[in-house]
Amino acid sequence: MYFGLYEPPPVVEEHGDELFVPAYPRPLTKPAGLLQLMLGARYNLLGSWLEDHYRSGVDSFPILGRQIVLVNAPEHVKHVMVTRNDIYERKSPQMRRALEVLIGDGLFISDGATWAKRRPLVADIVHKKRLPEFAPTMEEVTRAVADRWAELPAGSEFDVTVEMAQLTAEIIARTVFGSRLGQAAARRVIDGFTTYQASVDSFNLGYFLGADDGWPLFQGPRKRRAVAEVHAVVEGVIEAHLAGAGDAGSMVQLLIERNRRNPDLGLDVTALRNEAATIFMAGHETTATTLTWAWYLLANAPWVEEAIHTEIDTVCGLRDATFADLPRLDLCRAVIQETLRLYPPVPLQPRQAGAADRIADVQVEKGALVMVVPWLLHRSPDLWERPHHFLPERFTDGTRIDPFAYIPFSVGPRICPGLNFGLSEAILCLAMLAQRFRVIPRPGRKVEPVCRLTLRPLGGLPATIEPRARKAAA
Ligand code: HEM
Repeated sequence: MYFGLYEPPPVVEEHGDELFVPAYPRPLTKPAGLLQLMLGARYNLLGSWLEDHYRSGVDSFPILGRQIVLVNAPEHVKHVMVTRNDIYERKSPQMRRALEVLIGDGLFISDGATWAKRRPLVADIVHKKRLPEFAPTMEEVTRAVADRWAELPAGSEFDVTVEMAQLTAEIIARTVFGSRLGQAAARRVIDGFTTYQASVDSFNLGYFLGADDGWPLFQGPRKRRAVAEVHAVVEGVIEAHLAGAGDAGSMVQLLIERNRRNPDLGLDVTALRNEAATIFMAGHETTATTLTWAWYLLANAPWVEEAIHTEIDTVCGLRDATFADLPRLDLCRAVIQETLRLYPPVPLQPRQAGAADRIADVQVEKGALVMVVPWLLHRSPDLWERPHHFLPERFTDGTRIDPFAYIPFSVGPRICPGLNFGLSEAILCLAMLAQRFRVIPRPGRKVEPVCRLTLRPLGGLPATIEPRARKAAA
């Protein structure tokens, strides 16, 4: 595909005695030329950074006619995401263009008055106080996956990315659209999103050539069909709820009720569809990739895997892990937190400067692309001890984690409203499945993290499973 014009950097992975450095592309030692940069951005945005970019600080460089500002220090992350959020609230044109066809003016890419009006609505609907309502669905769907795994013939291989995507998509589909959605409709939405995401290109040449809003992206027939499928199903669900035939406990029902109670919101069917589709999209791919990376990390750090088995057995004994156990599953939580540090599902959080500004000694131009990059921030040698090592204990040993150095859910007014939902879901799914199985990635297969919309292992993570016997609590 790159006709020999682009060679990705080698992937580093190191194993040692109770030591695991999971896969990452080796940082570049000298700046790439423009063609290399553009092809590299297409192949994998994680592989184009210089060793120096991992250090704490602010940097500025041009690409074609655009200023790119890399913000990689806690105080400057705070400036962009919190203090001057008024200047930097706008998502990058790349991100807006990539998602607008599917989610319209949905919260993830909206800004200004639309965002300000709808943010409290969405934040309330996915708020942590509602988690106990959604927890039974999480438990039920995960148990069904575990039961299905238990029936697989010994040695069957599957792709962990697909299994985790199905698991979290099923959970979010039922919570957003309700349990009356039905298997066939759920499959249509999930397949539609998958097709859409596979064809999304987040590089927008138009922006670099001067169009502040980037160019609209080409929509091939497959992508158009996928969008039409998703929209048809979601609109159908909304119409059913409006007609009183929906699931009373669903997030769509909550959106409709709040919209009725607060006429200022004025959401029509399209706006309701955009917000429901946004929650669905934002709420499953991220958790699925977190879980996928967690399995990869655990499989390569058997001492951590053994420790979480001991924790789960101690807390749950012979019964299934449940939502109520989460406060006592400290190590499971730390494994997920460390997974989110090493492999943040949203590894770039780019913003477009709405006005000129100054960050440290860098003069930021209006329209510049301001890059907050959790991938770099989470691996900065100035902020983390042994930044590339898998060390979940850094989240349990009392070390203070700077909230502006660790931002897998972003930070500030646009922080992920589903933070508690996603975190609890990931810990619960991990605990319930780890209680019954070990996941064993195909031996000898190289893992390469690549950034598409989210951060995934290139080509998936083929693996087999091995049942494990739970132990009664001592
Ligand atoms: C491990 C799981 C998750 C991670 C790592 C994650 C991460 C993020 C990040 C980084 C953003 C901000 C992106 C940016 O600023 O460019 C975001 C926004 C968002 N997330 Fe999540 N998320 C997760 C789960 C969820 C879940 C479960 C939901 C809903 C149930 C959700 C709903 C949203 C929404 C609606 C936004 C847009 C918020 C706004 O712009 O105001 N997320 N998420």
